[in-house]
Amino acid sequence: MATVLVVDDERSMREFLAICLRREGYQVSVAESGGRALDWLAEHEVDVVVTDLRMPGPVDGLGLLRGIRERGLDSEVIVVTAFATPETAIAAMKQGAYDYLTKPFKVDEIHAVIGRALEKRALVEANLALREKVSGRYRLASLLGRSPQMQRVFELIGKIHSTRTSVLITGESGTGKELVARALHSEGSRSQKPFVAVNCGAIPADLMESELFGHKRGAFTGAVADKPGLFQQADGGILFLDEIGELTLSLQVKLLRALQERKVKAVGDAGEVEVDVRIIAATNRELEEEVARGAFRSDLYYRLNVIEVRLPALRQRREDLPLLIEHFVRRYAAEQDKRIAGLAPEVARALAAYDYPGNVRELENIIEHALTMASGSRIEVGDLPRLRQQALSGTADGAGVEIPDEGFDLDRAIADYERVIVQRAMAQAGSVRKRAARLLGISFRSLRYRLAKLGMEEQEDEADE
Ligand SMILES: Nc1ncnc2c1ncn2[C@@H]1O[C@H](COP(=O)(O)OP(=O)(O)OP(=O)(O)O)[C@@H](O)[C@H]1O
Ligand SMILES: [Mg+2]
Repeated sequence: MATVLVVDDERSMREFLAICLRREGYQVSVAESGGRALDWLAEHEVDVVVTDLRMPGPVDGLGLLRGIRERGLDSEVIVVTAFATPETAIAAMKQGAYDYLTKPFKVDEIHAVIGRALEKRALVEANLALREKVSGRYRLASLLGRSPQMQRVFELIGKIHSTRTSVLITGESGTGKELVARALHSEGSRSQKPFVAVNCGAIPADLMESELFGHKRGAFTGAVADKPGLFQQADGGILFLDEIGELTLSLQVKLLRALQERKVKAVGDAGEVEVDVRIIAATNRELEEEVARGAFRSDLYYRLNVIEVRLPALRQRREDLPLLIEHFVRRYAAEQDKRIAGLAPEVARALAAYDYPGNVRELENIIEHALTMASGSRIEVGDLPRLRQQALSGTADGAGVEIPDEGFDLDRAIADYERVIVQRAMAQAGSVRKRAARLLGISFRSLRYRLAKLGMEEQEDEADE
């Protein structure tokens, strides 16, 4: 039953309205002042408030309207005024009143207005419910995607999140492999248990064994106490082995053993400990190729790859771009406390045409950068990262490149360009190489290799994350 609150300082008016509306089947309450009405609204849900505009006391009709909006209440407000002064009625409408009536009004009139207000409310609610449903369908945990490829990924996650089977997540850098691993955890039956992530490429090979399986005191110099490994920390939950392709062959053997036996042996320990850990591994390498050339053990590959979640590159699912762009614009606008209404048309075109070698991460970086630069209410082309402006706006057509008659050193030119880009990224990342690698959409190792090749190693000593 729809609820109505009638607010009027005049008793006869209150009672008259209450009787008429009850007869129509509404559940009616009354209040004799704006202040009383706000008290009532603080504790009751009301669909429609019918209030007199002119009332004595600190809170008149407009004050009540303001109070309702300030408190974020969504009741529809209909104001009633004996003075057919359009200004007050207009003021009330401007402040969000649904409609107004002038006294004297006919009973039919008030029925009609309340009926329309209720219809509007129902529509708004239906819209909200619809929007929630839609966003629910295009979102899984923090993963967004409406493309058929991402929808299939969501479906697959839905099927496997609560099994114990190992999962191998593959895809280019920045496609969301870590997010998938986290979604498998948060959506699954192990969500209350630990999620332990380890980047196999970031830990030196000689420390990796003790990292994974733990060590006993005195097992090696520096092992001053027993230390449990990541397997034990993840007991009951999930161990996420990121960049699994970076694992050395000798560790691959040990990992395989642990997976088969469901037991781990700490470095320097004679015995083994039982663990219940689900393994999720991720790689941006083609592991099959690594297996073919003997860099990755096939038995471990098949053990890990019981189920493969293959993430498509962003350029293969352009339908996801608008959703992701809107999401990142909103997120960074909120974070930076900026009001951004949208993108300049050229920006929208450029973003739609770009290839995103660094995938979603690159798109996110572009938007974050643009928002930082944006000074108006719109993102303009000039706000985009300069390095990418050319590529983004499709003007990397060779304009400005001159090939002298005596010849041109292509490798040198490419190396020069690479140096400029890498330097720029390092500067933008505050010399933190991991961050720079992320900006460039390449692996940490690849960046290290490039820095060495370009003779930029002196930066190696600086602070890393
Ligand atoms: N489908 C998606 N929806 C929303 N955000 C996403 C999506 N995919 C990736 N992202 C965002 O992009 C960034 C990169 O994602 P993530 O770290 O999961 O990628 P990755 O595949 O693990 O990359 P890498 O191989 O470089 O480690 C993150 O900030 C993540 O939040
Ligand atoms: Mg990752």
